[in-house]
Amino acid sequence: MRIDILTIFPEMFDGPFKHSILKRAQERGLVEINLINIRDYATDKHKRVDDYQYGGGSGMVMMVEPIANCIEDLKLKNTYDEIIYMSPDGKLFDQQMANRYSTFQNLMILCGHYKGIDERVREHFITKEISIGDYVLSGGELAAAVFTDAIVRLIPGVLNDETSALSDSFQDGLLSPSVYTRPYNYKSMKVPDILLSGNNKEIEKWRMEKAIERTKARRPEMIDDEEE
Ligand code: ADE
Repeated sequence: MRIDILTIFPEMFDGPFKHSILKRAQERGLVEINLINIRDYATDKHKRVDDYQYGGGSGMVMMVEPIANCIEDLKLKNTYDEIIYMSPDGKLFDQQMANRYSTFQNLMILCGHYKGIDERVREHFITKEISIGDYVLSGGELAAAVFTDAIVRLIPGVLNDETSALSDSFQDGLLSPSVYTRPYNYKSMKVPDILLSGNNKEIEKWRMEKAIERTKARRPEMIDDEEE
């Protein structure tokens, strides 16, 4: 998979992309993440990327030209499955979407800032708008990092234990069951004995019961009425 991220703050991705699973996925060649600085496509000598809103109002707007130049340049070299704009106005991101996007080959993600981007970019270039939640971030970078992490870890070969993504919360419509590791006894708080029984069938049954219990308690709307 190739992910091209258009941003005016490429350094913001140093943390999330240079550690752990995302780092390993890139090292293994399972994903290529390119950070493209929109400012490099600015047309004036001050490398300006934002300007005042027509009609007045507070907040700057990201200009159409640098973004359009950048997208057009990239489109000459690649064909994109989707050109995504991270925005609180977009479709609410969930695990089902993560599964689908993890199968794509070429994605472009545009990160906005300030008051937003000139509407003409959205109309002419963007094929999908995605929100990571009903709140407003200072820019699209953190949202793009969340989106990228959620889809890259689902690419086959990225996680060491191939089955571990399958047992994630939400993957089967349930939250994950409780998990434990050593020590068995911590200040008289003990690990449930079933997990030490060696009986895999019973352990699976217990985990399913715990997953249902937790989902009913915390996210009852995830369980359909007829399944209850
Ligand atoms: N940019 C600002 N807020 C956002 C959000 N909630 N989701 C995606 N992109 C954003």
